[in-house]
Amino acid sequence: MTSKLKTQSPRRSGSKGGNSKRKTPVPVRWRKEVERILITDDQIARRIKILARAIERDFRGREMVVVSLLNGTVMFLADLIRHLNLPLRLDFIGVSSYGFGTESGELVFTKELRLDVRGRDVLLVDDILDTGKTLSRVLPKLRALKPRRIKVCVLLDKPSRRVEKIRADHVGFEIPDFFVIGYGLDFAERYRNLPFVGVLHPHIYKEISQHVPKK
Ligand code: PRP
Repeated sequence: MTSKLKTQSPRRSGSKGGNSKRKTPVPVRWRKEVERILITDDQIARRIKILARAIERDFRGREMVVVSLLNGTVMFLADLIRHLNLPLRLDFIGVSSYGFGTESGELVFTKELRLDVRGRDVLLVDDILDTGKTLSRVLPKLRALKPRRIKVCVLLDKPSRRVEKIRADHVGFEIPDFFVIGYGLDFAERYRNLPFVGVLHPHIYKEISQHVPKK
């Protein structure tokens, strides 16, 4: 993977995510669990500023409602919205895949939207678009509330894993099929606090999945 930005189309912005040219070493504290850093905190910060400009162009003149999916978006959302120079309102939908390990399981809604989005321009924010199962459940639910339009923004996109026909309008980084953690993304609810996106050592999910009960 490279950190070079792809040419951006006005409808969909994206970048190949990666830390392969001059590898940033994994901090000593995390070396047993994190195989390598895929996207550094600097790369994330730079990319988010560019994403924010693209989103601003997309929503210019409109008052947007940002709808963020809990819990994985925490870091991305906080960094993204502080760069959005637009009037916006913010709300959350709680949705979780109650599978364990590397495969997504049954989807459960844990928090409903409270703001009225009827006739509004919605930016739906998620940390990662993987199989697309989550967004394929959330989008119809949101559309039923009759917003004027919905644009989807994800930090990470793994197109190789897609099983549902879902695409994002704004993408931070397109990544291959690695098990990624950090910057909000978890494995068994751990590692969300890492400031970078890293690749989990396979031995961690093989070992832990034998001992940790399902969420
Ligand atoms: C993760 C992530 C996305 C979803 C993407 O959520 O935050 O919402 O999986 O996967 P998909 O495209 O295969 O559906 P998870 O259910 O793990 O909850 P979390 O946000 O609390 O980590």
